[in-house]
Amino acid sequence: MGVQLKNPLVVAAGPWARDGASIQRCFDAGAGAVITETVTLEAHNNICPRLYFRDGGTFNTKLYSHLHLEQWEDEVEGVRKGEGKLIFSIWGSSVSELSYLAQKVECLGADAIEVSISAPIGTRNQAIHNHSPHTHDFIQAVVDAVDIPVMVKLSYEAAISPDFTRSIADAGVTAVSAIDALKGLAGVGITGRKARMPTYGGYTGPQIRPVALATTATLKQHTSFQICSVGGIAGYEHVLEFLMLGAQAVQLASVILLQGYGAITDILRDLEAWLAARGIDDYAGIRGCALESLSPFEDISPAPLAAHMTGDCCEPCQICRQGCIYHAISRIEEGSIRIDPEVCTGCGWCVARCPGTKIELRWE
Ligand SMILES: Cc1cc2nc3c(=O)[nH]c(=O)nc-3n(C[C@H](O)[C@H](O)[C@H](O)COP(=O)(O)O)c2cc1C
Ligand code: SF4
Ligand code: SF4
Repeated sequence: MGVQLKNPLVVAAGPWARDGASIQRCFDAGAGAVITETVTLEAHNNICPRLYFRDGGTFNTKLYSHLHLEQWEDEVEGVRKGEGKLIFSIWGSSVSELSYLAQKVECLGADAIEVSISAPIGTRNQAIHNHSPHTHDFIQAVVDAVDIPVMVKLSYEAAISPDFTRSIADAGVTAVSAIDALKGLAGVGITGRKARMPTYGGYTGPQIRPVALATTATLKQHTSFQICSVGGIAGYEHVLEFLMLGAQAVQLASVILLQGYGAITDILRDLEAWLAARGIDDYAGIRGCALESLSPFEDISPAPLAAHMTGDCCEPCQICRQGCIYHAISRIEEGSIRIDPEVCTGCGWCVARCPGTKIELRWE
């Protein structure tokens, strides 16, 4: 990522890092780096409400900092970052605006810059981040304007677009963070017949983690970027998952909304305890170790597997029987479960869903 981090926990851009005091809380909680809420030339109004929660998912309509650039000068002046790094997230709507902002935040003491190019909220910037030549010019302007490292924050769509990733690599970028929030809607109130939010928002939190994991692995396998992974991280196990897929570092975001700043300290403590218990003293020892277990779909040969009971089951749950769309599972008279190996297609659904781990797949 171009900056040396004391630990791989980075606080992502967002309102938990909206001013000097909140950034200080992140450093005090132990963050290796903190990324500011995205700074633009002008202050942006906070709309109310702007945070939503539904079915465990977090939604927001919060776009950019409510402070303007000059206010940021005062905010970061007193921040004691110790060995932590301060990364400024920036966005501008023209090449000149972006390069001006980049120079300004470098003067404010930024250790690195993250360009927030693909936020899912609003429509104003869509033409830029959907159009590779524009993207290239915007990013090139930032890279040329400063001497500090420049990361680009990618949406899921941008991260899996070869055109997009090529255009920012050509502009001189060597590190990316991914993913930004997905575009989401908290639902429709069917009684009032209205959307539960007045506009599309960012969908974040634990449910987007599988998308973020797949994005990290895809970026690692198909690009040479260093990756700062973000999306749904809520515990040390998730940090390890991303590191094992090749992430250089990870970012915490919604977990701070859900659990407070103490989540940073808790995750760091648990991560270090896990590593210490295994005698691992260097993240390089685990980074990317899971990637070789991930093959392209086309390389996987169809293997004849069938489900078998690992023992008797008299449980009344019936999840396996109800979910087998191939009708391979029946309940025999005594109440136990029988799987017909002639009918079973080895799809794995009953194994995945059995709460008692009473079924396994075996080679036929
Ligand atoms: C309320 C809120 C505000 C956010 N503001 C920003 C922002 O200013 N700039 C940015 O690049 N990302 C912003 N994000 C996106 C997060 O940095 C992160 O990419 C996203 O939340 C996914 O991570 P998570 O699932 O761990 O929350 C925001 C997210 C939330 C929930
Ligand atoms: S593996 Fe699939 S087909 Fe076989 S019994 Fe289980 S659900 Fe049915
Ligand atoms: S899902 Fe598992 S626990 Fe439930 S009936 Fe089937 S085998 Fe038994």
